[in-house]
Amino acid sequence: MKEKLEKLKEEAIRQINESDALDKLNDVRVNFLGKKGEITSVLKSMKDVAPEDRPKIGQLVNEAREEIEKMLDEAKTNMERKLREAKMKAEVIDVTLPAQKSNMGHRHPNTIALEEVERIFIGMGYEVVEGPEVEKDYYNFEALNIPADHPAKDEQDTFYVNGDILLRTQTSGVQIHEMEKGRLPIRMIAPGRVFRADEVDATHSPSFHQIEGLVVDKNITFADLKGTLAEFARELFGEDTKVKFRPHHFPFTEPSAEMDVSCFKCGGSGCRFCKGEGWIEILGCGMVHPKVLRMCNIDPEEYSGFAFGVGLERIALLKYEIDDMRLLYENDIRFLKQF
Ligand code: DAH
Repeated sequence: MKEKLEKLKEEAIRQINESDALDKLNDVRVNFLGKKGEITSVLKSMKDVAPEDRPKIGQLVNEAREEIEKMLDEAKTNMERKLREAKMKAEVIDVTLPAQKSNMGHRHPNTIALEEVERIFIGMGYEVVEGPEVEKDYYNFEALNIPADHPAKDEQDTFYVNGDILLRTQTSGVQIHEMEKGRLPIRMIAPGRVFRADEVDATHSPSFHQIEGLVVDKNITFADLKGTLAEFARELFGEDTKVKFRPHHFPFTEPSAEMDVSCFKCGGSGCRFCKGEGWIEILGCGMVHPKVLRMCNIDPEEYSGFAFGVGLERIALLKYEIDDMRLLYENDIRFLKQF
């Protein structure tokens, strides 16, 4: 028995020394110390040993077992250390290599233009609000003094969800939502997406963006409108920008106007950019119609206000000298990268 144990031990040590991987070491453990292992089977055969010899043999088996276990543990620790060292060597970091630049995206020209407009109006004490893109006919037309048979409704043909609900054609409806809240005074801009049944071309798209503006307070006059929008134009297009108001008609403002800015390319002498005119049309505006105020439960005898609407794409196209609106929607990275 003793010799058999000695042999088994030698064999185990030989196999441990030959093992060159952790799973091979594990095989050795199973083969010798496992449930059906060689050492275990010696223990099982104890019943054939004379009772008086059993303690002695038992002790020998345990010693052999402990020795093999110790060898296995040492071999395992060694092997793991070597593996770790090899890994560290293989994964060495060369801090002198040039860094890999991460690809940072950036804002769309529309967003850059919008943030510029927001910055200007926030600086003048305005709040930025939002309204729904899917809107009731009432807010998009009726409350803005555009009754069902009004020709302005034709110009702004849109997509209807049903007879009463539509995709808004203008951000002007946000004026109504804000006035209905009954919190006065109001000083707000409302940027957002609008929709029209327009064919796509260089200056039209079925979906584009507007920025609405509204001020309602006591004693607001056309002078406030002019001063505010002139300052807006100067901040947006440069200090020397001049503005011109041309009489116009919008159903929800009275009087109404369109504002032109002096061409920031040629300074007003006429160039390709302003099509020789020296002026560029930029927005619609006017004094909020008394009827509109009344529909929102605001007394026009006590309060007055002005409103304006700017096309966001128009501003982005002008600011970045882009000559085709479609470029803003095509998501061509080579184009977008330039801004
Ligand atoms: N909503 C008008 C449009 O889409 C633009 C506009 C004009 C808005 C005059 C206004 C305004 O608030 O006072 O053509």
